[in-house]
Amino acid sequence: MFEIVKQFVTESFTNNIFSAEGLEHFERTVYWVKQLKPDADEAMLIAAYAHDIERAFRGKSSTDTFKNKEFNDPDFLAGHETKGAEIITQLLQEHHYDEEKIKRVAHMIRHHEEGGDEESNLIKDADSISYLEINAVKHVQLADKLGADKIIGKIDWMYHRISSDEAIKLAQPFYKKMVAMLKSVR
Ligand SMILES: [Fe+2]
Ligand SMILES: [Fe+2]
Repeated sequence: MFEIVKQFVTESFTNNIFSAEGLEHFERTVYWVKQLKPDADEAMLIAAYAHDIERAFRGKSSTDTFKNKEFNDPDFLAGHETKGAEIITQLLQEHHYDEEKIKRVAHMIRHHEEGGDEESNLIKDADSISYLEINAVKHVQLADKLGADKIIGKIDWMYHRISSDEAIKLAQPFYKKMVAMLKSVR
């Protein structure tokens, strides 16, 4: 099932001109999940690859989405998580995937931004490391359009939301690099 999800995510993002560049973030989220939990099962890897699927259906660029909004706006994030969980639930049901696993995937995606339990925290932490490693660079480049304060807010929030000590350790070098980079463009 993981390969089917991967193909679905890839096609969904490729069809959206605003977010076609996003796949590396998903690859690395899966990679960091495996680093943090070597025995991660398929449901966890599916949630990791598909956690931001809502972004492929947004029809707007990040610059437009966040022009008048903070990146961690609670209403926005709730919609991002809920819609993503619905999209993947539908796909998994169409393929008659195990019902219990569908529920777990949906739960992890519905809580990947704030966590709250072991599985959601795992996706959140891996997402944060991958964000700081991959996406933050592009966000730093958006600093002149969206404002440096907004970007540093996002980078700080993504780093400080991490739960596990191991994940903090892995994320720290990327975080420091991004803070330094942001200071240099300010
Ligand atoms: Fe997300
Ligand atoms: Fe993400």
